[in-house]
Amino acid sequence: MILTEVPVVTAALEAAVRAPSPHNTQPWLFELAPGVIDVVLDESRVLKVCDPEGREARLSCGAALLNLELAIAAAGQSCDVELLPARDRPELLARVEIGPRHRTTAAERRLAAAIGARYSNRRPFAATPVPAGARYAVRQAAREEGAKLVLLDEVGLSGAVAGLIRRADHLQTLDEAFQAELRAWTKERDSRDGVPAYAGGPRPSGGLLPVRHHGESDEAREFERDPVVAVLTSPTDGPLAQVRAGRAMQRALLTATSLGLSASFYSQPMEIPSARTVLRSLLSESDHPQVVFRLGYGFPGTTTPRRPAASVTRFVR
Ligand SMILES: Cc1cc2nc3c(=O)[nH]c(=O)nc-3n(C[C@H](O)[C@H](O)[C@H](O)COP(=O)(O)O)c2cc1C
Repeated sequence: MILTEVPVVTAALEAAVRAPSPHNTQPWLFELAPGVIDVVLDESRVLKVCDPEGREARLSCGAALLNLELAIAAAGQSCDVELLPARDRPELLARVEIGPRHRTTAAERRLAAAIGARYSNRRPFAATPVPAGARYAVRQAAREEGAKLVLLDEVGLSGAVAGLIRRADHLQTLDEAFQAELRAWTKERDSRDGVPAYAGGPRPSGGLLPVRHHGESDEAREFERDPVVAVLTSPTDGPLAQVRAGRAMQRALLTATSLGLSASFYSQPMEIPSARTVLRSLLSESDHPQVVFRLGYGFPGTTTPRRPAASVTRFVR
């Protein structure tokens, strides 16, 4: 039997590629050896303008890693994970060794089931408030992975951060190189990567937050007046912290999905170094902001395509 035919490996890889990534670049490769799946950063897919350090790409690989671990657990196997296992190969982000049988927990089953249901919902959300229990669960999910999720309305920072997002968005709108890169990753309906126009959101008429333009129509819609915006922070920065933060981001997003919540990202202030510094000081923390997203009750949308797992997998031994 070849390795991708081992059902647990197939399930793990199919789950991994469902992770979110900036502009749907899918910056990952998986290297297979008997009982081992390596998660490798595909440097050719790191966005040169938007993400020159590869930080968002590492977050995405961290999210793919969590999907992989959850799918293995849901298939009834255990696994051991080592982050950045090889000093001389920094693009090798994680090594997952599949272990003995494991009794799947209810939480693992629930989160694994959310992997295929999660998608970025850039449309207006209902005015229904996000209840305290759901807020706690999403915050707790990030904490479980060593990160912190700050819900801005709880700390009185919604207006200030929305202003920062709008200013950063304006700078990106004026940046020709940024716009050219965004256009290059805005794709037709049948493309296996990039963001299809149908996944974009309408232009907000008023409202606090701008929506990144993915070639959707110019229709304008009213967005919720008081969006719930979350900032995920990590205690340190650098490649290891970013892979961990990606895992925390994904656990928070999957927890939100499992509770019927939708999310969409606002990375504008994360992609302009001076804006990221301002965000960090607004939070008045030593922690490092890694990702910003909005949470709420969305109207049903659709998932976006991915390259098939087989096309991002290679056999090494
Ligand atoms: C680190 C990161 C940053 C992102 N930033 C943005 C953003 O600023 N605006 C946006 O509309 N989508 C953003 N996205 C969402 C991606 O475009 C989306 O994940 C990708 O197109 C795949 O679609 P899906 O999330 O619906 O599966 C981001 C995703 C990641 C992982």
